[in-house]
Amino acid sequence: MEQNYLANENRYNNGMSYARCGNSGIMLPKVSLGFWHNFGSVDPFERSRAITRYAFDHGITHFDLANNYGPIYGSAEETLGRLMLADFKPYRDELFISTKAGYDMWPGPYGNWGSRKYLIASLNQSLKRMNLDYVDLFYSHRFDPETPLEETLQALVDIVRMGKALYIGISRWPLDATRFAYDYLKAHDVPMLIYQDRLNLLDRTPVDTGLLDFCASNGVGFISFSPLAQGLLTNRYLNGIPSDSRMAKGKFLKEEMLTPQLLEKLKNYNNIAQQRNETLAEMALAWVLKHKGVTSVLVGASSTEQLANNLQCINAVNFAQDL
Ligand SMILES: NC(=O)c1ccc[n+]([C@@H]2O[C@H](COP(=O)([O-])OP(=O)(O)OC[C@H]3O[C@@H](n4cnc5c(N)ncnc54)[C@H](OP(=O)(O)O)[C@@H]3O)[C@@H](O)[C@H]2O)c1
Repeated sequence: MEQNYLANENRYNNGMSYARCGNSGIMLPKVSLGFWHNFGSVDPFERSRAITRYAFDHGITHFDLANNYGPIYGSAEETLGRLMLADFKPYRDELFISTKAGYDMWPGPYGNWGSRKYLIASLNQSLKRMNLDYVDLFYSHRFDPETPLEETLQALVDIVRMGKALYIGISRWPLDATRFAYDYLKAHDVPMLIYQDRLNLLDRTPVDTGLLDFCASNGVGFISFSPLAQGLLTNRYLNGIPSDSRMAKGKFLKEEMLTPQLLEKLKNYNNIAQQRNETLAEMALAWVLKHKGVTSVLVGASSTEQLANNLQCINAVNFAQDL
């Protein structure tokens, strides 16, 4: 394995800009990098490494993981762990690393959902896989309708008290439960740093439900996952389904989703992007970032070229009207 990575000394003057996460002390890059796909044990390590280096060299300080990212489960965290040892150890304090627990991770009653047992055991495993002493941000990955909210939230508070995470976030919780979590965490002096949800041109749920507004009004950051709708909002599928694409793999993005109506919509968006002298991906990311309360877009990338293109969203022109 090639050693001696030296980060670009111009990484903080390389086009990235940073936004304050809610009313916290933390600044996040407007474009963050997600490890859901392309960082598993099934993916070539050197490609994952090149994407990660490219990200950091361009000011992407925030990497987002979860216990079950891979495949196989846990292997994206292991990839980050290898990268920490090989490349990023000297830069640990320049990185803002998150992980999550909430979905099925190991068999039996303690490897899923929102119990104290699961969250704390899972984070302990994640830290080992990532070769980290602590994560910057730990999330409850989903709302658990059966575990008392107090149990989940107190586990999150205690995780911070134990020094295993510096900040707490939640993902995909309904608005009512989010309000409860916000109040609980605030009362226990561990304010909710950030909320993670899907927001993109094809799915505006957090705007429609008032979730984004709740975050903006209460000083909670908001980070949008799948801002490119897993690649639909790029040039990837405008002329067919490439054999190396996420849709061709067919697990999380299925061919049936690409209906003639959707394709026409994507082509219309692409025409608008062309009129703006932007790629569809650039425009789609800029559209998410224009919302009041959005701190960062959390992109995936299967190549450094894709990531390079996505970074251009920082320079996108303003929107005269909504799309
Ligand atoms: N909290 C949650 O429940 C949750 C759920 C989902 C995701 N997430 C987080 O959000 C992150 C991002 O999710 P995502 O991967 O679905 O994000 P995304 O940015 O919407 O999609 C990424 C995919 O789009 C394609 N792509 C990206 N940039 C492109 C470009 N410039 N041109 C052409 N194609 C491009 C690539 O697909 P190909 O592989 O086909 O090239 C890439 O893998 C995840 O890694 C994870 O950290 C969280």
